[in-house]
Amino acid sequence: MFSELKNKIYWVGAVDYNTRDFHGFEIPSGTSYNAYLIVDEKIALVDAVKKEFCGDLLAHVRQIVALEKIDYLIVNHVEMDHSGAVPEFLKVAPQVKIICSQKGKEGLLKHYQIADKNFQVVKTGDTLSLGKKTLKFISAPMVHWPDTMFTYCLEDKVLLPNDAFGQHMAHPKRFADEIGEDLCMEEAAKYYANILMPLGNIIIKKIEELEKLGLEVEIIAPSHGAIWRKNISRIIAAYKDWAHFKSKPKVVIVYDTMWESTDKIARHLAEALAQESIEVKLYRLRKNDGSAIVRDILDASVLLIGSPTLNTDMFWTVGGFLTHLRGLKPKNKKVGIFGSYGWAGGASEAIRKEIQALGLEVIEPALEVVYVPCEEELRKIEDYVKVIVRIVQTR
Ligand code: FEO
Repeated sequence: MFSELKNKIYWVGAVDYNTRDFHGFEIPSGTSYNAYLIVDEKIALVDAVKKEFCGDLLAHVRQIVALEKIDYLIVNHVEMDHSGAVPEFLKVAPQVKIICSQKGKEGLLKHYQIADKNFQVVKTGDTLSLGKKTLKFISAPMVHWPDTMFTYCLEDKVLLPNDAFGQHMAHPKRFADEIGEDLCMEEAAKYYANILMPLGNIIIKKIEELEKLGLEVEIIAPSHGAIWRKNISRIIAAYKDWAHFKSKPKVVIVYDTMWESTDKIARHLAEALAQESIEVKLYRLRKNDGSAIVRDILDASVLLIGSPTLNTDMFWTVGGFLTHLRGLKPKNKKVGIFGSYGWAGGASEAIRKEIQALGLEVIEPALEVVYVPCEEELRKIEDYVKVIVRIVQTR
């Protein structure tokens, strides 16, 4: 069912309740692919949906206008969750002119081999009049792909920023104030951490550019999840904090274990830190959702990585997780290393190299035990906790 955001600007997208994996991002409730129909003397569809949901998109549009009445298809971003339905849409609405960035045009041609005749390439500052409504375009490369742009409805003060400010969340309601703002903020944090974390510098510059342009924004309507129409300064402020890696007194413990020794250390660390009133999150890698771990790392001041030594190296799940983290480029955290080994160690040094390659400071020395932690080694953990508490409290 379609929804009206404001003055004949409609949500006409699709809700995907059943997907649980978005290219590796675990999404327990699913997601939505938001598309918007703007109706004036001319009619524009902003973004499409994933290929499998083209029927939902067309049905929602048909409830408002006939497909042959649509003048423009604005493609803010070519990734297939937003453009997959474009070829099918062009079959039923061949009259539309496609409005996109230069990189968007190249991406659409490469993905779908559609005819290179009906494009209008736009960049920051370009406008499109629909009659009483004016659309303004803002190039936003790398928020999320090089082709990305935002569309802004000038008279209605509605920003359509595609992936930015989104959440991977499926819900029958469309607006954050209906769904629950706190839940939407938490999902937005998880989305930012897993999709946009490495792009923080670009995001900060884009927000500053939007502020300099002096665009008044009353509604932010992203391409995934809830639409922000109340208290929008909250999500904008959160984006600034996340992009600056603003941290809080919080420790995230991420580890794996073979014979429970590293698990014993991890639980001991978590309980001792909690005794000091520090927020602690404990994640054993093979038992937890990696996307939730990444979300918690976003605003943690200390990360503790634990691994047993296996074949003179770190445990493979720890290596995989650190490879994932390398791409996400977290900043502004100190990292402690812990674990157990039997005869020849190796895990701590392997983790240290990965953390240093990430450009993060390692808390030295690593906390290591031989085979199984004995009473004396458990007391060493108490000393280690004191070091971590001092670091957390002085950041
Ligand atoms: Fe939602 Fe970058 O696609």
